[in-house]
Parts: sequence; C-alpha cells; structure tokens
Amino acid sequence: MARHLITSAIPYINGIKHLGNLIGSQLPADLFARYQRARGNEVMFICATDEHGTPAELAAQKAGTPVAQYCAQMHEVQARIAEGFGLSFDHFGRSSSEQNKVLTQHFAKALAAQGLIREVSEKLMYSNADGRFLPDRYIEGTCPNCGFEDARGDQCDNCTKQLDPVDLINPRSVISGSTDLEMRETKHLFLCQSQMKDQLDAWIDSKTDWPVLTTSIAKKWLHDGDGLQDRGITRDLNWGVPAQFDGAPWSDMDGKVFYVWFDAPIEYIAGTQEWADAHGGDWERWWRTDRGAQDVTYTQFMGKDNVPFHTLSFPATILGSNEPWKLVDYIKSFNYLNYDGGQFSTSRGRGVFMDQALDLLPADYWRWWLLSHAPESADAEFTWENFQVSANKDLADVLGNFVSRITKFTRSKFGEAVPQGGTWGAPEAALIAELTTRVADYERLMEAKEVRKAAAELRAIWVAGNEYLQSSAPWTVFKTDPVQAGAIARLALNLVRVYAVLSAPFIPTAAKAMLDGMQTSDDTWPSDMEAALNALPQGHAFVVPEVLFRKITDDERDEWQARFAGKRDA
Ligand code: 2FM
Ligand code: ZN
Repeated sequence: MARHLITSAIPYINGIKHLGNLIGSQLPADLFARYQRARGNEVMFICATDEHGTPAELAAQKAGTPVAQYCAQMHEVQARIAEGFGLSFDHFGRSSSEQNKVLTQHFAKALAAQGLIREVSEKLMYSNADGRFLPDRYIEGTCPNCGFEDARGDQCDNCTKQLDPVDLINPRSVISGSTDLEMRETKHLFLCQSQMKDQLDAWIDSKTDWPVLTTSIAKKWLHDGDGLQDRGITRDLNWGVPAQFDGAPWSDMDGKVFYVWFDAPIEYIAGTQEWADAHGGDWERWWRTDRGAQDVTYTQFMGKDNVPFHTLSFPATILGSNEPWKLVDYIKSFNYLNYDGGQFSTSRGRGVFMDQALDLLPADYWRWWLLSHAPESADAEFTWENFQVSANKDLADVLGNFVSRITKFTRSKFGEAVPQGGTWGAPEAALIAELTTRVADYERLMEAKEVRKAAAELRAIWVAGNEYLQSSAPWTVFKTDPVQAGAIARLALNLVRVYAVLSAPFIPTAAKAMLDGMQTSDDTWPSDMEAALNALPQGHAFVVPEVLFRKITDDERDEWQARFAGKRDA
C-alpha cells in the first residue's frame, strides 16, 4: 500500500473564495486524494485557512470584529463550504494554531543555527497617530504615476504600477487616516535564500517530470534579474506568529511577527500535527524522513501565483533547517480560470463564489465542470453556455440517462432485481476489452494528475456503456428473447456500480446515489473488468435511483449570467 501526503494551498481567511480559487488547488487535490484512497492507498490530505498577515487584519477591521474572532468565524464558514463541495480533507486546519506557532518559531531558530537568518535595519513608514509601523498595504496615497488618489503602498490599482510607500504623494494611514507619518529605523529578519540558490537550482533541475508551468516559474525566479534574493520574513504587525520568543537567537523583535508567507506553508506540517492531536495519530511518519516519511509520496496543489513560494521559499526553509523533513515530490500547479470574458473579482463580486454556487446547484455539477475544464496548459474560461452544455450533455444525457434507462427498463420487465440467465457474447467481450483499455488509461492519467484528460477518459467510459446499451437494445431483444435481454440488463446494471466507483473522485455524491441504488457498498476498483461486471450477482436487489442530474434550462442560464455579472458588495 502506497502512502500519499497531499496538500492544497491554504486559502486566505478573508472572505469566501470563488470558483477560480477552488479549481486552482482544493478541488484537484481532492480529486487526487479520493482517487488514491479508492485505489486502496493510505492518504493524508491536509488543507487549512491562511489566517495571518495584513489581509486578515484589514478584513477584520472592516468587519468591525477582533481579528482572532473574525478568523475563527471565517474558518467555520470556509470549513462548511468545503464540506458542501465534498472536499475530503483529513484535516482542515488553521495557520493561527498553537502547533503552527511552535513549529514556525522552531524553523526560524533552526535556520538561524545554520547561519541562514540575518538581521537587517531598514527605514519604514511609522504612524505616530497609530503608534505603529505600517506595512505597505496599510498606507494609501496619490499615485505618482497616474494621480489616482487611492493607490496602495505596494501597488496602484488604477495603473498597476508597483510602488514603494515612499513614492506615494500625500501618504496616509489606512487605519486612522492620519497623515502624521515618518520614516523610522527598524530591524527585521531576512532569510538568506541567496545562499541556497545552487542547492535549489539542482533540486528543481532534478524534477524532470514536473509540469512545465511549475518549473518555468521556479527557474524564472532563480535566474531572472538579480536571481534569488534574500527575503524579509518578519513584519510590523500584532497578528501573527511572534518573532520574539523564549530561546530566540535575537532580541528587540517585540511587536513583530513572521511574514504570513513564512508560516503559511509550515501549516501543512502543523495541520498534520493538529490532526494527530485531535485523533491520536502519528504525524511524524508523514513528515519526518527519520520516522518513516521516506516512503511517503508528497504532492502539492496550487495556483501559479503560489509557485515561487512552494518551489523556492518553503524548500529553502525545509532544506535550510538541515533537519530530516519531508520535501515535496511533485508540485501540480494551475493557470487561472477567468469568468465570462474577464476576471473573477472578489472586490467587485464578479463571478460565482463558492457559497453562491452551492445555492444554485449541487456540488457535483461544479466539480464536474471545473475539473473537466481545469486550467492546466493555459488559462481557462467559465461561461454559462459552456457550463450548461457540459452539465446537460455529460452528466444528464450521458451518465444520468444511462443509469435511469437501464434501471427503469429492468424494473418494468424483470422487477427490481438483477436478471438471471442468458449468456454474454461478442458485443459484451468487445465492451469489456474497450473498458479494460480505457480504465487503464484513466488510471495512468489520474496518477499523472492530468485532470482534464482524466475527465475526458471517464466521459469516454460512460459513452462506451451508452453505446453498448443503444446497440444491444434490450428493449427490442426482450420481444423475442427475454432471457437474453436480461443478460444485457445484468451487464448494464453492473456497469452502474463500476461507473459509481470510477466516477466517485469527480462526482462523489452522484456516485454514492448510484451505489445506493444498486444497494451495495462494494466499491472495489474494477481492476479486472470481467469480474467487476459480475460483482452484483443474479437476483441481487436494486432500486431505481432518483434523477441523478437534471438539466439546466436556458432561462436559468440567462438569469444566472445576469446575476453574477458583478455587483456583489466588496
Ligand atoms: O494564495 C493564497 O490563497 C495563499 N493563502 C496560499 C498559501 S499556500 C501555503 F503556503 F500555505
Ligand atoms: Zn497609478
């Protein structure tokens, strides 16, 4: 039995994510986790909320809620929505956990012991009215480039120019609006990534099977411009993992916390510790190569904007610690999903957000569309037309219709039991041969995390069953040879169970309904197709499942398109 450690990039706590976020990490990670479990492998699937940093502080401030409380509430909201989408995390943790605090401080100390942390004094913007240093996003002012009055300290949203807070004309504090700001000397910790450039470069070079999207982004950061730079890993904030702690090899870091991108990936490990603490499990056998984790295959899923941190910064933390931590084996990254001719926009509420999606239709519709259109080789686009066509054709016409047709036919002619007698001949042998080849292909694609291609193969597997049913026409055969019609129906009913097992990673709810309809909990993977098509024995009772997938009407499509065009409050 293989052991798979699987992590999804952990979503920021501030707000509900849109469908583009979902297909960029959590959903494909879930697909892979479900597939590996279905193959009988041991899986540890971890996700969490990313709760530190300025976005969390600012969102809490806007909501008028203390930040810790805001995070606790939003964590619950995100956890419930994840459940609604069938995301089968073994643990959905929180980067603000005690475990993550301890581990983040541990890594900082271990890096310092290896000479990989340096203290840097720099001048940063200080607000006298607020009594604190202001991170870039806490400063707004007029853009020196275009004159836009609400440019942020790090970037102008109007002309997109990258800014430094000192560039802003009339800078003001986002917290208080005060303009009583000055540049003050302050000290920060830097991670000496540049010292690890060659080691990281060689490591990336060794990953010849990784998606080009992943390696090309890593290579760009390693080699473009000045190459890999040391990074500041502390910030002047109250909310986060304190940079000053007992046993810290530095002083004068009170009031500073670790940068959110330093502690976020450490939460993958801490989240496994949270799981172990809650369930009495052993986290070390997943993460410590001196405790069994050398046998683990570790796969990460993320959007392309997260790739630099996962290919360079986090590995620098792991490798730099010089401790036996498990390094990632495979990084699956995704391009962006766009929305109906533009981008999803959280601030303008453009596009469908996860909570809204579940209010419209059950999770399986979204899961199927998103996974079968995953932005792998290029950015992809969600359109309502495409969504409607895909759901109505693939789910309702191909899969749903197959299940409904064969179960209703059998019920009407034989009652609700798998028919007895008759024999299978050449058409059945041909179908078994085709399915055997296709399932092997499907397995190969799922192992390779080729999400779109795997979806296409699954669809082809559904189509093969439909074509078999269409050409063997048990309803016609029944008129002259009812026993033979029963043999055909027996194969098709068994195919319903096989489809449930194969489809479960994509559409778990419908798959469950199919197994329930066949009144079986036998979810054995169809490694031997002939045996799999005999799993439900003659005489086995079944029931006709409820309609698995209804069709999306043109009116609904038009109404939803208008509704999500972009008005939701920021
Ligand atoms: O892009 C994001 O949503 C980040 N919160 C992802 C962090 S992934 C990891 F580092 F934990
Ligand atoms: Zn500007």
